[in-house]
Amino acid sequence: MVELTIDGIKMEAPEGSMVIQAAQDVGVYVPHFCYHKKLSIAANCRMCLVDVEKAPKPLPACATPVTNGMVVRTRSDKAIAAQKSVMEFLLINHPLTARSVTRVANVSCKTWQ
Ligand code: FES
Repeated sequence: MVELTIDGIKMEAPEGSMVIQAAQDVGVYVPHFCYHKKLSIAANCRMCLVDVEKAPKPLPACATPVTNGMVVRTRSDKAIAAQKSVMEFLLINHPLTARSVTRVANVSCKTWQ
């Protein structure tokens, strides 16, 4: 087990597990599109970018293994800016598909800050 902090919550996670799974274990939601715990890690969408202390830029939570003493912020300015940039990029490049998903699948999207 390794000890880490996610959004101020100190926790332990199994060695080799990913940040997104550790966050979910303590009830912290990280936005994601291509991650599913039962599938192999694709890490294609970059929607799960989070702010990891001492990392020069945001890292994908689904493909970043937990390490001892790691400090992760999912709602910092840096993390939110990265997530918004990815969302903007996806909407610019897939405007019709992204908008039609809510209509076709009758799902609601989370409101972005
Ligand atoms: S959920 Fe797609 S890159 Fe992490």
